Formats: sequence, structure tokens, C-alpha cells
Amino acid sequence: ESAWTGVNERTFVAVKPDGVQRKLVGEIVRRFEKKGFKLVGLKLVQASEDILREHYWDLRTKPFYNRLISYMSSGPVVVMVWQGLEVVKTARKMLGETNPAESLPGTIRGDYCVEVGKNVIHGSDSVESAQREISLWFGPNELHRWRSSSSQWIY
Ligand code: PPS
Repeated sequence: ESAWTGVNERTFVAVKPDGVQRKLVGEIVRRFEKKGFKLVGLKLVQASEDILREHYWDLRTKPFYNRLISYMSSGPVVVMVWQGLEVVKTARKMLGETNPAESLPGTIRGDYCVEVGKNVIHGSDSVESAQREISLWFGPNELHRWRSSSSQWIY
């Protein structure tokens, strides 16, 4: 069992350039806060091609890969780390399906976008991806360590 399962599980979420341009950052942060997760890190960054190529390494052979990299570097992204019980799986549910057309209303993509190539937000697909993505985008000093007394967190 990994160190970050259970209440200390962490996930990586990025508001993509279209989401930032469309002023959806506050709404997205609000949804994760109100759900009950703890914010562990957050910053606005212009992603380099290097970091994006590493982030999307698994997709390097996909036909949309170059388009995806140029879309993700077309403006700043807001990257964040959220912590809490089963946050990886729950965040993916909150995001909706990759294709907004298949995302239910009430999910972020279901409510705010229509195109798979401009789908507003990214969320890690597993605990292992989350660990990889968090260490790619954040330094250890950029992540808050909640005191263990706050494990009495009220959901
Ligand atoms: S796959 O093919 O199953 O690996 O794809 P999937 O897991 O659904 O999506 C992986 C990421 O690729 C993005 N994606 C696309 N971008 C642009 N155009 C097209 N057609 C496209 N299809 C998938 C998708 O949004 C996923 O990125 P993240 O950042 O994880 O949302």
C-alpha cells in the first residue's frame, strides 16, 4: 500500500489554458473545496514543452499528441494538488469523461465544455500517475504538509 492511500491520498489537477482564459479557476477550486478535499499546492505556470512532453509521455504515439502539447502551452495553466480520502477516483468523477459530450451535467466537463481538444481540466488517472505528476510539477517545498491533528478533518 502506498504512503498516500487513505485520507492522505493526493491527486494532481490542472486547469488547462482554455479553463484559465474562461475564468473557470475559481469555480473549479470551489468545487474541490466544497467537496471536502484539502488544498496542498497551487500555482499558475506557463508550462514548458519539456514538462508537457514528460507529463504526456504515455501518449507520445497518439495522433493528437502534438496538438495536445501546443494546446497545453498556449497559455498558463493552474496546477494544484488536492488531498483526501479516495481523492484520485473522486476527482476523476468530478471532472467527467475525457470527451465532454459523454460527460454528465454536474461534472466540470459536463457543465463547461464541448470539445475533447479543449476539455478545461486534467486529473490524474491513478495513485501512481498522481505521484509522478505531483513530483514533476511541484517541488517538495511547494506542498503543504497538513498536521496529523488535522486527520480529524470533517467531511
Ligand atoms: S487514451 O487514448 O485512452 O490514452 O486517451 P485518454 O486517456 O482518453 O486521454 C488522454 C489525454 O489525451 C487527451 N485527448 C485529446 N486531446 C486532444 N485531442 C484529442 N482527440 C484527444 N483525445 C484525448 C485527453 O484530454 C487526455 O488528457 P488529460 O490532460 O489527461 O485530460
